[in-house]
Amino acid sequence: MAKARELAIRLRQKQSTGESVKTELKTDQRVLARVTDGIYRQPTSAIRELISNAYDADAENVWIQTDAPRFNEIVIADDGNGLTLEALASLVHHIGGSPKRTEGGVDLGVTNADDVTLSPCGRKLIGKIGIGLFAVAQLTRHFQVITKIAGENYRRVADVKLKTYSEDPAAKGEKQTFNSGDVEIWSEKAKDKQSHGTQVVLMDIRDYTKSLLQSRERWERVQSEEGTGESDDLVRTPPRFHIGSIDPGTGNTRRDDACVPWMSKDKPETRFRKLYQAVLDEVGISTSDPSINDAFDNYFRMLWNLGLASPVEYVDGHPFSLSCDEDLHYFLLSNERRGQAEELSFASNKKRVKVAAGLTLPEKDVKPFNVIIDDIKLYRPVRFTSLPVKGTAALKKPMMFVGKCKPDLSGIPEEITGGSQLSFEAYFLWSSKVVPKESNGIIVRIANASGTAFDESFMHYEVSEQTRLRQITAEVFVLDGLDAALNIDRESFNYAHPHYQFLTGWVHRALRQVTNKHKDLGKIARQKKLNAESKRRHRDIESAVNDALQSLGDYAPDSVAEVDFTDEETSTKEVQSQRKEGTLVFRHDVVLGDVTGGRSTSRNEMDQHLLQEKMKGVAQVLDAYGLLEELEYDDQEQLLRAICQVFLAGGGK
Ligand SMILES: Nc1ncnc2c1ncn2[C@@H]1O[C@H](COP(=O)(O)OP(=O)(O)OP(=O)(O)O)[C@@H](O)[C@H]1O
Ligand SMILES: [Mg+2]
Repeated sequence: MAKARELAIRLRQKQSTGESVKTELKTDQRVLARVTDGIYRQPTSAIRELISNAYDADAENVWIQTDAPRFNEIVIADDGNGLTLEALASLVHHIGGSPKRTEGGVDLGVTNADDVTLSPCGRKLIGKIGIGLFAVAQLTRHFQVITKIAGENYRRVADVKLKTYSEDPAAKGEKQTFNSGDVEIWSEKAKDKQSHGTQVVLMDIRDYTKSLLQSRERWERVQSEEGTGESDDLVRTPPRFHIGSIDPGTGNTRRDDACVPWMSKDKPETRFRKLYQAVLDEVGISTSDPSINDAFDNYFRMLWNLGLASPVEYVDGHPFSLSCDEDLHYFLLSNERRGQAEELSFASNKKRVKVAAGLTLPEKDVKPFNVIIDDIKLYRPVRFTSLPVKGTAALKKPMMFVGKCKPDLSGIPEEITGGSQLSFEAYFLWSSKVVPKESNGIIVRIANASGTAFDESFMHYEVSEQTRLRQITAEVFVLDGLDAALNIDRESFNYAHPHYQFLTGWVHRALRQVTNKHKDLGKIARQKKLNAESKRRHRDIESAVNDALQSLGDYAPDSVAEVDFTDEETSTKEVQSQRKEGTLVFRHDVVLGDVTGGRSTSRNEMDQHLLQEKMKGVAQVLDAYGLLEELEYDDQEQLLRAICQVFLAGGGK
């Protein structure tokens, strides 16, 4: 504050001379204090931050235990490096000052000595700000961090009771440091000296959070007999899968026992897969497209979203590990301004997308990373093969577009880019039916983690592509850069950052390539279908004429008259010479007219052609019965025209 007063005095002194005053921007500690009040909306965000911290601490396993469906307490335990006493002290005293990605972090054991952007074992660090842990403020005011590093005889326990911003009188005073809560730290003797890891125990979960995790609102809606008119768009049916409901009055479980898509003997890794499959199996059960919002209660939705956000494996493998043997159509995206996607070519002995497209992902894991919540092992709920197909779609085979880009942004000043390079790899999966609905859109992952669900606006793509955009699932894997454009809640981006702007442009160009390819292939597929149909109908007409002629006593195939219709270019001379040779030539426009209605679509043209074939057959039958030779040429034409009119009058062509 003294500094600010000093600045005001200097400004006043200089106001008459017009001289400038140079100073630095200062951050008020209270701004950070607000952060410990919680900046997130969903419990999922807080759990996601704790999972990220375990990942950064080199954990191989994270076990999350809840007392679902009550949610009085949640424990997040990992087998990571743990916090040294110094790191614990730093955590308490430097909210908003993460030691990660700093030289200081090396001494505290949180970063890699060779590269401070990596964890000690070599994972790309997710954390950078030093506030993620305080996301728990959204769930509770009271938590403990119990941590132990290998080689020490003690584990440390930090008991934290957070205050709300306005509670502290210092907030209104002039103090620079702000008390966000009270911490008590003590040591406990550990049995196993070599054990290591951290446990975050969330106690006395807030009622608001419990209510969310218990899906209380949904159950209340289900239980209320009739809806009021205004909220009729709300879901009133119980979720197909849920953990049961709690009566907030008594705290007891209601009549609804949990309904889960697995059996109790199933292993943690099987359970999530069954959960995923259960959503896919919703196809055809209800008339609307399957959605996790309808199928799941909030708890299962949380698991789903944590699977999406965390650096865990895909439920069925990484998209770039797909092989050319899969039933997918592969394309490589172009980085040229007006470029188009090309079919991806696989060398016969190199069958993986990764190799064929020259991609670097998936990298070999330094260490596996498993997240297990209440005996359910999380996976990324996205699959690329055996996808549901929409019956009516012209194109049925899904298309997988992959690409990579490392633009040269050296022309942009460092103050704006933050100094780092931008580099990323991406896929766009087109499939006729995206299941569940929530998998439609794009996710941008930095350091293998993401704070958002699929963004269905595709980073505000403004070209209307109707259903095509609704058929795309896409992910961008950022290898370098963009981090500086990530807002502190990790759930949105700073749109003005050049990395974000470049990425947006690239994604939109990629979308254009995807939709163009879809249009082209769709056209070809429709034409093929039409040709096949035309052939079949053609044969039908031919055999009907043949049958008719055969029923005539002395039928001989070569005695059947040749019939032809003139097209516009045929000269009268040609017509006459053809007639002399015995071909029954008729004027197309007289007999048939134009049935395309002026719109020459492929289908209309096929119909026109088939009508002509029918009239040919009619003429042949009439001739075989000897009915045409009686008539003058003009009358023959008029007769055929009359028959044709009768055909058309019924709507048939
Ligand atoms: N599970 C854990 N294991 C070991 N250390 C941890 C764990 N969780 C938190 N820490 C320590 O606590 C610090 C604060 O965590 P917090 O999530 O608040 O910040 P961060 O991860 O450094 O940055 P960000 O705010 O970007 O997440 C970390 O820097 C780390 O040193
Ligand atoms: Mg963190």
